[in-house]
Amino acid sequence: MKIAIYYFSGTGNTELVCKKWAEEAKKHHIECDLFKVEDVKEEKIDVSNYDKVGIAYPIHAFNAPRVLWKFTTRIAKLSAKKPAFIIMVSGEYMTLNHSSDYKVARILKRRNLVIESEYHYLMPYNMIFRHTEKRAYEMYKTMLALSELDVKEYLAENKPHKLKEHLSVHFFIWLIRIEQLYAPLYGKMLRIKKKKCIKCMKCVNSCPLNNIKYADGKFKFGWHCTLCARCSFNCPTNAFSCGFLQFWKVNGRYKFKEPEIEEVDKHKRYCKKSYIRYYKEASERLNQIEK
Ligand SMILES: Cc1cc2nc3c(=O)[nH]c(=O)nc-3n(C[C@H](O)[C@H](O)[C@H](O)COP(=O)(O)O)c2cc1C
Ligand code: SF4
Ligand code: SF4
Repeated sequence: MKIAIYYFSGTGNTELVCKKWAEEAKKHHIECDLFKVEDVKEEKIDVSNYDKVGIAYPIHAFNAPRVLWKFTTRIAKLSAKKPAFIIMVSGEYMTLNHSSDYKVARILKRRNLVIESEYHYLMPYNMIFRHTEKRAYEMYKTMLALSELDVKEYLAENKPHKLKEHLSVHFFIWLIRIEQLYAPLYGKMLRIKKKKCIKCMKCVNSCPLNNIKYADGKFKFGWHCTLCARCSFNCPTNAFSCGFLQFWKVNGRYKFKEPEIEEVDKHKRYCKKSYIRYYKEASERLNQIEK
């Protein structure tokens, strides 16, 4: 079997999941090609050589990022139906988030790609607040274990997995697609604090939409931002000022290692029920294979 996974990852979490899927697929002698959507340059994308096609993204305001669904419109229509699967990654396991692929699903269907399987992994927030390293590591370890199981069940044993969702939420999530509406404005309002900036150009070179330009000693921001948070999250000196979302800014990569020092978890009550449900469902599934 040969599969492709096309993914967008703002700050690396979705990429970690996709790499784990590719590694696990290999163990089952399944060829898995990974493509970052921003690196795919063809105007029309031919997926006819693959047996299954995966689409992976971080959830942004209960939706798939605009850059991702715009990418899916470039996939060439197939002459016959082909199975597809979705990998979503988010900071909270809310049922609302399970429907984030409704628009992508419609676009794929028109191209004869039918979603037969869906996965939702919890990974730490890159916006709103910073999870503690302990919680980030717990999410990471669970994602690795679940991915191993998911790849085995779905790709090796052909057992698809569907997420529970309520169709009634589609209208709600369509309504709050803030990213699509406000992302360009957010990008335009980004600023860099001169005193803090060390001119490493990491932000300029890594923006997936080339939205940040540097010329004559000045940074300029365009209207193409997809609100992925990559620039401000990875800035080594935390020099970004993020306009109306400054209060939600998260800066600095997670270590995904057992922390040496215990941090105070200021957000332990946040979405507590959905986290408990995620770990409960995960441990039930993982326990089943141990028996
Ligand atoms: C603009 C924006 C909106 C987000 N909205 C949500 C959301 O609605 N629900 C959620 O659980 N996480 C949300 N997140 C958090 C990300 O989905 C989460 O941190 C994810 O792991 C990031 O993956 P990445 O590193 O591949 O970009 C949002 C992040 C950003 C930047
Ligand atoms: S990543 Fe940060 S320090 Fe580097 S150029 Fe951009 S703003 Fe300046
Ligand atoms: S400007 Fe920053 S947030 Fe916007 S797309 Fe570029 S890297 Fe992402």
